[in-house]
Amino acid sequence: MPSAWSPVHPASPASAALGVRPYAAADLDRLIALFGNSVRTIARRDYTLEQVLAWAPEEIDREGWAMRLAASDTWVATHGDCVAGFTSLQPNGHIDLLYVDPDFQSRGVASMLLRRLDGSAEARGMVRLFTEASITARHFFERRGFQTIEMQTVRRRGQELINYRMERWLAPRRSCDSGRSH
Ligand SMILES: CC(C)(COP(=O)(O)OP(=O)(O)OC[C@H]1O[C@@H](n2cnc3c(N)ncnc32)[C@H](O)[C@@H]1OP(=O)(O)O)[C@@H](O)C(=O)NCCC(=O)NCCS
Repeated sequence: MPSAWSPVHPASPASAALGVRPYAAADLDRLIALFGNSVRTIARRDYTLEQVLAWAPEEIDREGWAMRLAASDTWVATHGDCVAGFTSLQPNGHIDLLYVDPDFQSRGVASMLLRRLDGSAEARGMVRLFTEASITARHFFERRGFQTIEMQTVRRRGQELINYRMERWLAPRRSCDSGRSH
């Protein structure tokens, strides 16, 4: 198994296009590494070193992650053979994970992943998406129609971290459409 902080994408051709595909068990170690890199590099702008190390520790519960990802609707953003980001949606509408690799920030990766979750949620008849957004991700979710319910403080391995409970209601599904305008 690679170290949790080993490179996720040793080479990515500039000409490759971004895409999204379902998660496969073989992605596990790359997603764990991406998670660590993203938290320690990107979220570090908004949290102390102690806080990011509590959030994304060196020792990762690999089996726990395997079960968590497999039990969710998990999607992987790709760029050629590289993994650019991933997200997971739990059956109750909870967006559990959304992480983008430091080298793929502000290129629309999270937006693309969220669009895929939207489609998936609508297909499953979900009416509400909700999450606990980091300080780093709050703006991203706000720009995509999520509203803040409340700020909260969570404890992770002895550290206190602020995040935001956020939600977005989905449009109710239309059961039929006659195609006629009235
Ligand atoms: C928050 C996070 C997931 C956002 O991911 P991202 O892929 O950079 O997000 P996007 O690129 O889709 O959107 C970010 C901005 O880039 C802009 N953008 C989108 N496509 C773009 C493109 N092709 N080129 C340049 N900018 C683009 C968007 O307009 C957006 O700006 P806006 O929010 O003002 O509208 C990412 O910063 C991250 O991984 N953070 C660290 C981990 C974390 O906190 N995760 C959340 C846990 S709750």
